[in-house]
Amino acid sequence: MCGIVGYIGNKDAYPILINGLKRLEYRGYDSAGIALIDNNKAQVYKKQGKVSELEKETATKKITGNIGIGHTRWATHGLPNDINAHPHMSMNGKFIVIHNGIIENYARLQKKLCDRGYSFTSETDTEILANTIEYIYLKGKVSAELAVRLALTKIIGAYGLVVICIDEPNQLIAARNGSPLVIGVGEKEYFIASDATPIIEHTNRIIYLNDKEIAVVTKNELSLKTITNDALIPMIQELNLDIEEIEKGGYDHFMLKEIYEQPKSINDTFRGRASQNPPEIYLGGLYNVFDKLDEAERIIIVACGTSWHAGLVGEYLIEEFARIPVEVEYASEFRYRNPIISKNDVIIAVSQSGETADTIAAVKMARELGATVIGICNVVGSSLTRETEAGVYTHAGPEIGVASTKAFSAQVTVLTMISLLLGKRRKKLSEKTYTTLIKELYKIPDKITQLLSQNETYKHVASLYKDATNCIYLGRGVLFPVALEGALKLKEISYIHAEGYPAAEMKHGPIALIDENMPVVIIATKDHSYEKVVSNIQEVKARKGIIIAVVNEGDTTIAKLADHVLEVPETLPELAPLTTIIPLQLFSYYIAVMRGCNVDQPRNLAKSVTVE
Ligand code: G6P
Repeated sequence: MCGIVGYIGNKDAYPILINGLKRLEYRGYDSAGIALIDNNKAQVYKKQGKVSELEKETATKKITGNIGIGHTRWATHGLPNDINAHPHMSMNGKFIVIHNGIIENYARLQKKLCDRGYSFTSETDTEILANTIEYIYLKGKVSAELAVRLALTKIIGAYGLVVICIDEPNQLIAARNGSPLVIGVGEKEYFIASDATPIIEHTNRIIYLNDKEIAVVTKNELSLKTITNDALIPMIQELNLDIEEIEKGGYDHFMLKEIYEQPKSINDTFRGRASQNPPEIYLGGLYNVFDKLDEAERIIIVACGTSWHAGLVGEYLIEEFARIPVEVEYASEFRYRNPIISKNDVIIAVSQSGETADTIAAVKMARELGATVIGICNVVGSSLTRETEAGVYTHAGPEIGVASTKAFSAQVTVLTMISLLLGKRRKKLSEKTYTTLIKELYKIPDKITQLLSQNETYKHVASLYKDATNCIYLGRGVLFPVALEGALKLKEISYIHAEGYPAAEMKHGPIALIDENMPVVIIATKDHSYEKVVSNIQEVKARKGIIIAVVNEGDTTIAKLADHVLEVPETLPELAPLTTIIPLQLFSYYIAVMRGCNVDQPRNLAKSVTVE
């Protein structure tokens, strides 16, 4: 949610900032802006819309300088227009600020500044921050760094920010509380960004800032301290990330590339953790909490969005294999409803980005209440990985498309492995079932490859329903979360209203919506409730609804009833979420493309939701 980037060194900052903003655009694309310093003068350009609009605006300008900052915005306070775009300059032009987060007490700060003669041009909380810093700087006649630190002690809220002071133009000041910030360390140059993706093409030496830390960076040195002025030793880490992983690699969209990467990403996620010979699951990241997991009376999974859907699959599998009661909570609800948590609870937080504000807040709260907290996360070094005592990385690789695809299947893979491991440790799973499931898990990547080769079928069915206005998704048991995820994919990228329901619940409301114009996507692979799902299909057909059924290969029963069948190779019912989600992802993708939607950057959404 908002991407920020900064550069200081000997190179031309403009292309570094623009390319950096393009890499970060998945975090928000309401507006973009840059500020460069040259000869103690600031050049500030900002534009509503995507980074490409800003690029057009600046194409003919002569922008120079080796120091600069840039921002791509997901609007919180104020409309997405040119004026509200970052960077924001303070009233007397002393400070230029880019910010990701929310200043909660902005109204009170604004009033104080107004009483002191300040006026504002934008509707943003960031402009108030810039002016608060400036006021302290001018009134107190202090250094820029001290002014920033003092201002931050007055701030309630979240921030990742970079500040330039025009009187001290050879430095960038970066600070973090709640919103992520990383610094790349080059040769006589530093890069600052919301995540490592804009930095990795320049250096893989990374410093992750922690909350309430501030870094002052010149081209030759970096000093790190807390905002209360305690000096810190920067910890430089080497990040293993290839530039190809964050590029489209010949695909039309990141989303399509990421869907096609799933055989590999699932394989990468279980490689080294699930062995066939002997059949065993090894999750090294959980070793230090095994005793807690063995004794846990309850597991609570907290997450948002797609990760929450993966959590629902986890609930089904952990209860099935390990017989531990599991609750799945929206992180935003969990944190605000005074939940009953005890030391015997284990919380599993699931997040692709590891930066979702509500998930991080839920984790902090659960820890304070004495629970054991485990993370399942895709982004190495993200906040979640630092807030949890143990965890498992999904090795899905960077996911850039805003709609999550390969992260979901990787999360489900990790939760499958956790459920198997717990089932074995608690002696609730027979050796035979354990072995069979591990062996079958190994076959999933090939089955997905086979599914991906059927893309022409998905494209064809998509072409028939691209103009639908509504769509219902149905599934039962472990396939109900797949229905929810399929519906989410369709609505977020194609803007077609879609709802997921447990198939039997259809009779309690949604059936009223069914007529000859209503496509109903039903996941109907073989399991113990197959016959019931067939009945649900009959009920839809009796009301002239259109059935698009995801079925096992060779299913003639449903083929006779359904308008369209999307076949998936047979697997064990518990692993079917990993196969059945593929046709649904591609169906949504092709519909969105045919409707001319921006698949990778759907309207109003952002990939990493770092505000509440
Ligand atoms: C946003 C994204 C979703 C994602 C959700 C949770 O809404 O658009 O794709 O599922 O955040 O994100 P997380 O990074 O915590 O998994």
